[in-house]
Amino acid sequence: MIQKCLFPAAGYGTRFLPATKAMPKEMLPVGTKPLIQYGVEEAMEAGMRNMAFVTGRGKRALEDHFDLNYELEHQIQGSSKEKLLEEIRHLIESCSFSYTRQNEMKGLGHAILTGYPLIGNEPFGVVLADDLCYNEEEGVLSQMAKLYEKHQCSIVAVMEVDPDQVHKYGVVAGEEIEPGLVRVSNMVEKPTKEQAPSNLAVIGRYILTPGIFEILRSTEPGFNGEIQLTDAILAQARSGKVLAYRFKGERYDCGSIEGFVKATTEFYARITDAD
Ligand code: UTP
Repeated sequence: MIQKCLFPAAGYGTRFLPATKAMPKEMLPVGTKPLIQYGVEEAMEAGMRNMAFVTGRGKRALEDHFDLNYELEHQIQGSSKEKLLEEIRHLIESCSFSYTRQNEMKGLGHAILTGYPLIGNEPFGVVLADDLCYNEEEGVLSQMAKLYEKHQCSIVAVMEVDPDQVHKYGVVAGEEIEPGLVRVSNMVEKPTKEQAPSNLAVIGRYILTPGIFEILRSTEPGFNGEIQLTDAILAQARSGKVLAYRFKGERYDCGSIEGFVKATTEFYARITDAD
């Protein structure tokens, strides 16, 4: 059973300026819940209980969110509003939360490596909270954790995208070993339409084996001068086995304004339909 989940959340979120000038992008709410809370709930549903965050300057609100706020709780005690805090209280009581800082934004691969002291030598989940995933029956990370039990290797979540959109993603290719499961043999970060080895795009959900840290330590800066997780996963695929899993569910790119608005609209419709 995978115990730990890493949340790289050090990025500046420049696409959301000025909203993200003094507030972490991960605290943007869809409905009444911030993006990071959806991510932690998904990890918890997958059986993970140790939540590890890679943060940076200006991200203190993340720590405060996963802590008690006595003054506020005292204020609403006994009122109908108390139930609004039920879900977050449940998370706080059920999980542990630890934090480390990435001092310089050297890329997602570097952010993962920065998380090593919080993870150690065990397999772990990774959630990029600005990718909001929804699946009614079972969360995406839970689907992946089950696959890990069977295959015991790193797994990346992928979805098919329009060839005109591949330049926004890491793109994988390989042999389909069973429906929806590809053994990765190639992986390119943000390729042009012409360079892309397929239209299978990696989204912000991963299960990684601890061998990834050793690889990241010697991974040179790649695309955009950043240490790319994609390059490290490709190295892992070449020396062993990595799977790409076409997940069941919906993914919203809440790092973009368009995706965020879509998520807000669809989640709100779900909430009001359920009432
Ligand atoms: P993004 O590419 O979305 O970058 O990072 P960003 O800075 O968050 O947002 P924009 O593009 O400026 O609007 C993907 C994920 O990787 C994390 C981010 O926090 C986000 O969850 N990340 C990226 C880090 O933690 N550290 C980095 O150095 C880079």
